[in-house]
Amino acid sequence: MDYRKLGFCSKAVHVGSDPCPVTGALVSPIYQTSTYTYENTEEAGKIFSGEKFGYLYGRDHSPTEYQLEEKIAALEGGEDCKAFASGMAAIAATMFALLEAGDHVICTDVVYGGTYGLFTKIFSKYKVDVTFVDTSDVAAVEKAVRKNTKLVYVETPANPTLKLTDLAKVSALCRSFGLKLVVDNTFMTPYFQRPLEFGADLVIHSATKYLGGHGDAIAGAVVGPREFIKEGLHQPVTKIGALISPFTAFLIRRGIQTLPLRMEKHNANAMKVAEYLSSHPKIERVNYPGLPSHPQHELAKKQMSGFGGLISFEVKGGLEKARAFVDGLEMIRLAVSLGDVGSLIQHPASMTHKSVPPEVRRATGITDGLIRISCGIEDVEDIIADIDQALSRI
Ligand SMILES: Cc1ncc(COP(=O)(O)O)c(C=O)c1O
Repeated sequence: MDYRKLGFCSKAVHVGSDPCPVTGALVSPIYQTSTYTYENTEEAGKIFSGEKFGYLYGRDHSPTEYQLEEKIAALEGGEDCKAFASGMAAIAATMFALLEAGDHVICTDVVYGGTYGLFTKIFSKYKVDVTFVDTSDVAAVEKAVRKNTKLVYVETPANPTLKLTDLAKVSALCRSFGLKLVVDNTFMTPYFQRPLEFGADLVIHSATKYLGGHGDAIAGAVVGPREFIKEGLHQPVTKIGALISPFTAFLIRRGIQTLPLRMEKHNANAMKVAEYLSSHPKIERVNYPGLPSHPQHELAKKQMSGFGGLISFEVKGGLEKARAFVDGLEMIRLAVSLGDVGSLIQHPASMTHKSVPPEVRRATGITDGLIRISCGIEDVEDIIADIDQALSRI
């Protein structure tokens, strides 16, 4: 059947989830193999030269990986997808594919700490220059463009400040300067935001988060034009050895089938938690794009169809009170990562964003007292009750 006609939820279930063509098993098996065999050297030669389709080696590709890629590409509305061993592998391989020594990158000033580390500590060694800019300010992005600028890298909403970038405006700017726009869509997933529809060139995911959804697998993905995915990314993926494993591809593919249901619940729970926090006298500030008080609430409604499960907030009394609050939680787990079925809380200044220099953190709103919560799909009353008891003790 033509899957393109299906709605988002049906695609999440059916694309890339065909039954096994050999046995008829409803769920296709995991092709857990490192290599592939051939009838004879003539057949092997044809496959290795590309004359005939066939599998080469487990570091190049696998049938299980292809099934996952078909699903993610269909959901993001892209031509093709490449799945990676982690979100960081996806980001690094994409940058290796697009950049060369002497190039310049413009990056959102508040990004995941690992991305910041990659751009500052690794790419500087290869003579790639990065300017961190508040990409919510399109004029600031334009001002940062240089003759050697190759691409703009955006995280929206940004991690952990939840600041947004106007995708339509920044992609128009990129087009006018001939730059590529790469968007990390981990926080929203294609269920709530599809950057390609706003003119982005490539979409990146840490599939570890909402796509997998169950906190049991590390993976990444890049979606974009077929030529880039098949040709541009081929060398970096196979030469770095960054491909997703068959077992992980199976887990992420299974997780995505319930993505719409989970995202609805993450969103509904986060909205209630954000409202509760906003009205609590011990809370200084709440960042959540779904709140009318968020400075970019109108933009959020324009480019996202939901607001996601992440909230960041500050407890009155700074670092000391923030730590006491987090340590007092009982059901909500203290852990990095996000998008898991269970609620997770973390302290960016000492955890995910520790690698960002303190002065940069302060300048970009990642204060020492800032806390980030990833609202899970538990009963929202239980999430709020846990926060409430921990707040009552500080
Ligand atoms: C927004 C975002 N992008 C990328 C990454 C990196 O992904 P991974 O941990 O799967 O390598 C993370 C990890 O937390 C993230 O939050």
